Amino acid sequence: MNKRFLFVCNFKMNSLDVMEYVNAIKDDHIDNLVLCPNFCDIKDYAILKRNGIMLGAQNVSEFSGGAYTGEVSASMLKESGADFCIIGHSERKKYMFETLSQTNQKAKRLLEAGITPIICVGEDTEKGDDFAVRYVLLELNEVLKDIAISKVIVAYEPIWAIGTGKVPSNSHIQNVISAIKKYTGVEVCLYGGSFGENNYKEISSLACVDGALIGGASLKPNLIVKIQKDLR
Ligand code: 13P
Repeated sequence: MNKRFLFVCNFKMNSLDVMEYVNAIKDDHIDNLVLCPNFCDIKDYAILKRNGIMLGAQNVSEFSGGAYTGEVSASMLKESGADFCIIGHSERKKYMFETLSQTNQKAKRLLEAGITPIICVGEDTEKGDDFAVRYVLLELNEVLKDIAISKVIVAYEPIWAIGTGKVPSNSHIQNVISAIKKYTGVEVCLYGGSFGENNYKEISSLACVDGALIGGASLKPNLIVKIQKDLR
């Protein structure tokens, strides 16, 4: 493996004891793994920074600070140790009605705080390459407005592949991610959706894919460390 493949682990609304990752990593140094626990657990995970592990959050407020009950600002995340933050995840769009313009504001707040936004996009139905390309480019057209393109990461997550065990063909992933890079100028693009033991070799071998955004499998630290080692 000659390129640095980035693993971004999205624990979603689960609480995983940091000791599980501590035990899986042991004394190893891993410089391509970003762990994104829930807000409450981020500070506990700072212990793993000694192993090179990076931290991220799963959401951020679109506001910088003030009377916004229940919200967490980008500067608070930075102080907790987060250097990355997932925004615009399809679950937030579906259940919390997050809009593309809110995701755009969140990206701006993160960049102001020195945090790298990981912007999720992906089509809701399986209708082929052209449909997917049009869908994600329309989303990115809104989300990337007035954003420094070189400072963000995009995660292509087809909604129909999330948590379903269904993974698009290699050529589909390749076509969509190549189009994202070509038409937006974004340099780092991840794939997300049922990434794991059965498909990591194929997906990581695609030239245009710079890493994976991992849901379910990220709750199995031994598996993540094993895959990471295997791809070194
Ligand atoms: P799964 O890996 O469980 O399909 O989840 C993907 C995801 O939503 C990561 O953000």
